[in-house]
Amino acid sequence: MDTIAQVALQRGAAEENGNAPVVAVEDLHKSFGTQQVLNGVTLAVRRGETLAVLGRSGTGKSVLLRIIIGLQKPDSGSVRIHGQDIAGLNLDQLGKIRMKMGFLFQHAALYDSLTVEQNVAFPLQHHKKEMPKSERAGRVAQLLAEVGMEGSLTKMPSDISGGMQKRVGLARALALEPDILLLDEPTAGLDPISAAEIDDLVLKLQQEHHMASIVVTHDLHSAKTIADRLARINAGNVVIGTANPSTKLEVRGGTLAVTRSSDGAQVFNATDGSVFSNGVISASTGFSLGGSW
Ligand SMILES: Nc1ncnc2c1ncn2[C@@H]1O[C@H](COP(=O)(O)OP(=O)(O)OP(=O)(O)O)[C@@H](O)[C@H]1O
Ligand SMILES: [Mg+2]
Repeated sequence: MDTIAQVALQRGAAEENGNAPVVAVEDLHKSFGTQQVLNGVTLAVRRGETLAVLGRSGTGKSVLLRIIIGLQKPDSGSVRIHGQDIAGLNLDQLGKIRMKMGFLFQHAALYDSLTVEQNVAFPLQHHKKEMPKSERAGRVAQLLAEVGMEGSLTKMPSDISGGMQKRVGLARALALEPDILLLDEPTAGLDPISAAEIDDLVLKLQQEHHMASIVVTHDLHSAKTIADRLARINAGNVVIGTANPSTKLEVRGGTLAVTRSSDGAQVFNATDGSVFSNGVISASTGFSLGGSW
């Protein structure tokens, strides 16, 4: 079984903007019984940035998202949302933070017994109780129009396609105007055309709403389309780069060599003398990634 080794995204391209991380994950460890799933995951995502997390099945991508949302607790390590460590929060406080997080679960998870309209209205009904009915209806219509589903308000989830269900899931994730968007496999199970449509939609939403987004995916093509940075998670391997691979790794104009250490971890050596070992990249900005994914 694969485990997540170490992922460090300490100085990504977005840091050049000088803005603080919206989501900062540090040294997360998580085991289930004797199975270690997360083994020192560190990453940071800033406003307006999309990080794609790639990795084979079972590497702990969904567990990582669930820990960020606060649905699962790590064994050690921290998750900070807007600088606030979520570990010490009570349910009320966590609920408030979650309101600013839109998430799409791996299996679209629409409520089967509710219409499309009711599904999108659900978070508003529960978290914006003061919102008048007419305003809520208008907001739901607007959200569904944003994802191209304005014609399906009264349909049941079982009566729309998988791609349409993902669109509705996205509309629901956006209902509370989140500043963090977490998507778990938004294109899984879709045909290539529907998947490309979802990618375009995710890009459009990100351009319009400037959220800090983490998108978990198996699909490298999709990741390259939607993300500013990519993190690939794999047993003993960590590779991190921008979404525009070139034939070599570059850092600050220098060339990075990628070598494989005896324990399988990839070691990054930069011409400026920096050495990135054990998957921890300590001094890189805006490098491109080559090699195979
Ligand atoms: N609640 C749990 N109890 C026990 N084991 C769990 C639990 N949640 C996840 N796991 C295990 O942790 C590992 C990682 O699971 P996770 O769902 O995060 O994988 P993933 O990378 O999202 O895979 P996929 O790409 O197939 O969705 C798996 O081996 C899974 O069985
Ligand atoms: Mg998963």
